[in-house]
Amino acid sequence: MDSTNRETTSSYTLKDFECYREGRMQLEIKSIKKIYAGYSTVYDALFKRFFHPRIKHAITYMDIKPGERILDVGVGTGLSLPLFPRHCKVVGIDLSPEMLKKAKDKIRENRLDNTRVFHMDAMGVGFRDDSFDKVFISHVVSVVPDPYKLMSEVKRVCRKGGTVVIVNHFKSGNKLIETFEKIINPVCKRIGWRSVMCLNEFIAGTGLSVNKKTKLKKFDFWHILYATNVK
Ligand SMILES: C[S@@+](CC[C@H](N)C(=O)[O-])C[C@H]1O[C@@H](n2cnc3c(N)ncnc32)[C@H](O)[C@@H]1O
Repeated sequence: MDSTNRETTSSYTLKDFECYREGRMQLEIKSIKKIYAGYSTVYDALFKRFFHPRIKHAITYMDIKPGERILDVGVGTGLSLPLFPRHCKVVGIDLSPEMLKKAKDKIRENRLDNTRVFHMDAMGVGFRDDSFDKVFISHVVSVVPDPYKLMSEVKRVCRKGGTVVIVNHFKSGNKLIETFEKIINPVCKRIGWRSVMCLNEFIAGTGLSVNKKTKLKKFDFWHILYATNVK
């Protein structure tokens, strides 16, 4: 590197870097919104048959007690909403107004009086600390630009000792499949999710206390995690 380059590089401040990161994040958010606006009309037709059984399984074992407050992060078209027991209070949030419109249709069609949905970025949740007893996050962790920011918000709004349930694809431990996942990652990003996130790194980075890791079937790309919110 010559002296001119060195000078230019060293003249960048931490603030410049943060602005750059924030700019990239906003670009990603814009692209996610566009992708899911496009998916909203075909999402259930394309994905329900794959996602619904896993969502149902995960919610069945959440052991939701009467009166508990549930947050569904990235609720999408609301495939999960009719599956929560009527005796709890459900709040769904999503970045995409078009996906939320479908969720609202399900609330109306199924007369889910215990459920409300809001347009909100999960990386900056507009609820007070400890507002929820249980948080459900399905097929979202590998969609958001910063999964750790998402999880720090989830931990904040979930009460201490509450339950966080995550349904998500994580990188396979199998080298051959991992290579394939790396190759298809750029394509996956274009269609709205990342395929290379490592489960152990994610658990270590979020500080969640995971009680149970399971899968719907023995050979399934998606994991279901049940964790206690440690504060
Ligand atoms: C693959 S869909 C999953 C929808 C639903 N949870 C399911 O399992 O069918 C991902 C959802 O996450 C939403 N999403 C992406 N980034 C988000 C963010 N930062 N805040 C809130 N929702 C977000 C998308 O709009 C989309 O509805």
